[in-house]
Amino acid sequence: MKILITGGGGMLGQKLIAGLAKVGSLNGKKIESITVVDAYKQSQALDGFDFKITSKIVDITDRKECDAMIAEKPDVIFHLAAIVSGEAESDFEKGYRVNVDGMRNLFDAIRLHSDQYCPRVVFTSSVAVYGGPYLDVADDNFILQPTTSYGVQKAIGELLLNDYSRRGFLDGVGLRIPTLCVRPGLPNSAASGVFSNIIREPLMGIEATLTAGKDASMIFTSPRSAVGFLIHAAQIDTALLGARRSLMMPGIYATLGDEIDALRRVAGDKIVGFIKEEIDPFVQEMLTSWNFPRFEAKRARSLGFTCEDSFDELIKTHIADELGGQIPGLTK
Ligand SMILES: NC(=O)c1ccc[n+]([C@@H]2O[C@H](COP(=O)([O-])OP(=O)(O)OC[C@H]3O[C@@H](n4cnc5c(N)ncnc54)[C@H](O)[C@@H]3O)[C@@H](O)[C@H]2O)c1
Repeated sequence: MKILITGGGGMLGQKLIAGLAKVGSLNGKKIESITVVDAYKQSQALDGFDFKITSKIVDITDRKECDAMIAEKPDVIFHLAAIVSGEAESDFEKGYRVNVDGMRNLFDAIRLHSDQYCPRVVFTSSVAVYGGPYLDVADDNFILQPTTSYGVQKAIGELLLNDYSRRGFLDGVGLRIPTLCVRPGLPNSAASGVFSNIIREPLMGIEATLTAGKDASMIFTSPRSAVGFLIHAAQIDTALLGARRSLMMPGIYATLGDEIDALRRVAGDKIVGFIKEEIDPFVQEMLTSWNFPRFEAKRARSLGFTCEDSFDELIKTHIADELGGQIPGLTK
């Protein structure tokens, strides 16, 4: 089995490689090779796997480059390449070029392949396809009403996925992935960064700023669960999806206040003491405009997609996966 990961140099792509190494096969077929393509980042993960990994610099906005990577006929394609939320909002042209035109390039390279060919394509959509006003609890029938360019681009991607699947060009599964938390790495300037910053930095014994009111809410999943979603999506029976190829993934609803309470339960008062409150009106406004509700992801759960049960567990997952089971901040 040959696998292609677009945008594979990014955070989720790198974790996906490790996840695929753990499972070793998909639907009983051994993974023989993974090709990781990314416009900007070479894959860090290359050695120590049971399969061959090739890392290539490929820009999906170039149709010829898409043809070349599809010429190798990967059996499963994880399409992760994207311009993410903040940049898609600040650079309108680039967001549409990569998130919409790039996706069509990839899909047309598959459609126009000279052999009969219908790969499984797993597409990372986002909860950004939704927008308010919300119901108290949203469900799988909640309408798509994105309020950002990124959300619109992901919603267009979902429609393309439906149509190319309906026409038999590919076998698509779209995953509306909740905000990843705790996002590893350095704090970033995205407005949603605060949701991860106030957990990740205090656990390290570093001060973090609470830039919005405690009632701002979001729906979350861990990077570990997101990798689980991707691997599961590569293996499900897509006949069960009908014409609706995209699914809202399970997640944990929490406000910033809920996050701080969970951090206190898991790591104690000393760690919570590293959070300083300093409201940033811009962040406050962005977060208030999102205020994501609880979401019953019944369709996905019935198909076997699972995630952590609580925000406490989500913090514990971060401590296990990123901090070697220790809380460095306790000794500072
Ligand atoms: N991180 C989250 O909270 C979250 C939530 C929901 C969905 N997603 C989606 O999951 C996917 C992966 O997210 P991530 O957090 O790893 O983001 P990331 O920014 O770390 O990875 C995206 C990768 O795409 C690459 N890329 C950008 N333009 C490209 C192009 N023209 N050609 C080829 N590669 C290109 C980037 O270099 C980057 O490495 C994205 O599609 C994102 O929209 C992420």
